[in-house]
Amino acid sequence: MSRTCGAGRVRALSLAVVCAVALSGLPSAATVALDTTTGAPGIGDPYWPLDGNGGIDVRHYDVAVDYDFATGELSGTTTLTMAARTDLATFHLDLLLPVTAVSVEGVPAAFAKPVEHELRVTPATVVARDDVVEVEVTYAGRPGSIVYADELNWLASDRELLAANEPHMAPWWYPANDHPSDKATFDIAVTGPATHQAVSNGLLVNRRVDGARATTQWRVLRPMTTYNALLALGRYDVEQTTRGGLPSYVAVSRDLPAFERSAALRQLRRSDEITAWLARRLGPYPFESTGGLVTGLPAGFALENQTRPTYPGAPDTELLVHELGHQWFGNSVSVRRWRDIWLNEGFAQFLQHYWLETHRGQPAQQWLRKTHRAFAATRGFWRLDIADPGAARVFDNAVYVRGAMAVQALRHRIGDRTFWRLLRAWTDRRRHGTGGIGDFRTLAERVARQPLDGFFRAWLSAPRAPAVTRRNGLR
Ligand code: ARG
Ligand code: ZN
Repeated sequence: MSRTCGAGRVRALSLAVVCAVALSGLPSAATVALDTTTGAPGIGDPYWPLDGNGGIDVRHYDVAVDYDFATGELSGTTTLTMAARTDLATFHLDLLLPVTAVSVEGVPAAFAKPVEHELRVTPATVVARDDVVEVEVTYAGRPGSIVYADELNWLASDRELLAANEPHMAPWWYPANDHPSDKATFDIAVTGPATHQAVSNGLLVNRRVDGARATTQWRVLRPMTTYNALLALGRYDVEQTTRGGLPSYVAVSRDLPAFERSAALRQLRRSDEITAWLARRLGPYPFESTGGLVTGLPAGFALENQTRPTYPGAPDTELLVHELGHQWFGNSVSVRRWRDIWLNEGFAQFLQHYWLETHRGQPAQQWLRKTHRAFAATRGFWRLDIADPGAARVFDNAVYVRGAMAVQALRHRIGDRTFWRLLRAWTDRRRHGTGGIGDFRTLAERVARQPLDGFFRAWLSAPRAPAVTRRNGLR
């Protein structure tokens, strides 16, 4: 298990929070979905009923934020280009900060915050189904004081800021249709002290200094999930290179001790080489740049932020492989619903073992057998249904370790060649899209030309250790 599964800031989703919201007068997603003129407050993911919103499809976010280290206040203006999937008399966005103005197509709109997480917009005129409109939201507040779904996601000191988390991060700094099934391109402009660098996703397009403040613009050319959007402000050592036509941008916090800074930089420099290695197995790299960021803040876990993963301290090589592996599994092909998290973590974790096999002579199948034996008598390890772990346990150890075991077992069962053909077919057909575990199983059965329902049940859902059989990939 990598450090990615270590201490997290997400704790169990408090049912009390959900219930309080359900009782607060907001209709449930299911009720509202029947009303074609009202956008529902949730997209219909039972893990977090208020995440995402009904009736809208965001195509592009233009985010401009300004952060003040002295007060901890963030102010912003975000313009969303979005399509209406139904006639919309009102619609919702997800944003935790107080809002001062909203306009739709340049016309002021009425708005309300029925609960902290929801911004309800009522445009002056109904937005007709299939219309594409620009929605501008102006807001300001102190993200560091806000808790949602038991997460306090704002990590900031008086000198560095890192907004990076999963499954939720966007509503602490920009209004979003906050669910991985609605991906969009982004422009992200960050204003902060001119002594600092602002780091985000994609390509650095401009940096403009105006007195003591600097505004840095980043551009994301390929669709990105909302939790992947990165906001980092700090004093960083930065290196920009281009290898094989792929730009790489790496940043290391100067707040780290010198020995760790140099170790971090040395490791981050390998991001392009590891990206290229992964591309040889998984198919063409899906994005416009690569790189990474090592924070000086106590982040507690790494995150696969699109094109620019973030790490708490110098990453070891396996962690680089994990987060860069997520660029295919999670970022290019994203979960359709949060219950599909195995498609992210099981595969990223498996790739670490594949790296160890090819670079350190430790066969992944040997690791699988050893781990299966080691956990054979540990009932708790096998109990969780990792194809539907529940909101409180999306990052459970079992999702990672059993998840990776399942992937290796599949590889052994269907054979190495068929397995890599399957992975390439998956990442190719669903590139920049989404997928669920059922879709993966269907494709696996087609590529391997055999039924695999028993295999998937045994490895993902049955509450016991899979029997040591050929069919379970253990012989
Ligand atoms: N997706 C991340 C990774 O494994 C883990 C995020 C964990 N997040 C958390 N809040 N604990 O790379
Ligand atoms: Zn991961």
